Amino acid sequence: MIRIAIDGPGGAGKSTIAKAVAKELGIDYIDTGAMYRAVGYKMKKEGISVDDEKRVGAMLEHTEIDFSGGDTLLDGTVVNEEIRTPEIAAAASACAALPAVRSKLVDLQRRMAQTKSVIMDGRDIGTNVLTDAEFKFYMTASAEERAKRRFDELIAKGDSVRYEDVLKDIEERDRNDMTRKLNPLRKAEDAIELDTTSMSISEVTDRIVSEIKRG
Ligand code: DC
Repeated sequence: MIRIAIDGPGGAGKSTIAKAVAKELGIDYIDTGAMYRAVGYKMKKEGISVDDEKRVGAMLEHTEIDFSGGDTLLDGTVVNEEIRTPEIAAAASACAALPAVRSKLVDLQRRMAQTKSVIMDGRDIGTNVLTDAEFKFYMTASAEERAKRRFDELIAKGDSVRYEDVLKDIEERDRNDMTRKLNPLRKAEDAIELDTTSMSISEVTDRIVSEIKRG
């Protein structure tokens, strides 16, 4: 059984790469960002503020998050599209600072990785969720490059956004994720750092797969 942790800021290409590596190695991919997004989405839908920890706690007691065949399920409903908006990205980052949210999701993530080989991506996988993972990677890219990738993705989806706004969102989310008290984003001491600013998807995938095959 192998566990692979990939951490890094938003838009560094973690999920694209993790999916490709999972396919190549024939193991499961767990997108922990999608779990925080699902919680942020449900809070928005139910009109629950991040400041209202009591209501957030009550909501979490009857919240189920799961993955099935590449789909993200929130209380049994597929929410793949709904959670991929800039608004939900910000809501996910905000709710991810709450102890009740982190403890529920981290617990779930550890259980998902208990009985099978997985590649898991997020912000605190190597430093907190799977500290004993056999392989840890920390993937970065400049904020400008990450904003460009996100911008191209949103435009391809038909959204009308401005590059400057996408960059501002990315910088704001970096600040949130890196400065929160509980399990902030940082590189694990034993993680291999990959700056993907001028690397292609297949170059990064090949680099990770070759590290793993080398053992
Ligand atoms: O990877 P992503 O952009 O889908 O993640 C959305 C937000 O969720 C991110 O801004 C911070 C939070 N998150 C987290 O705190 N810990 C993780 N392991 C994964 C995501």
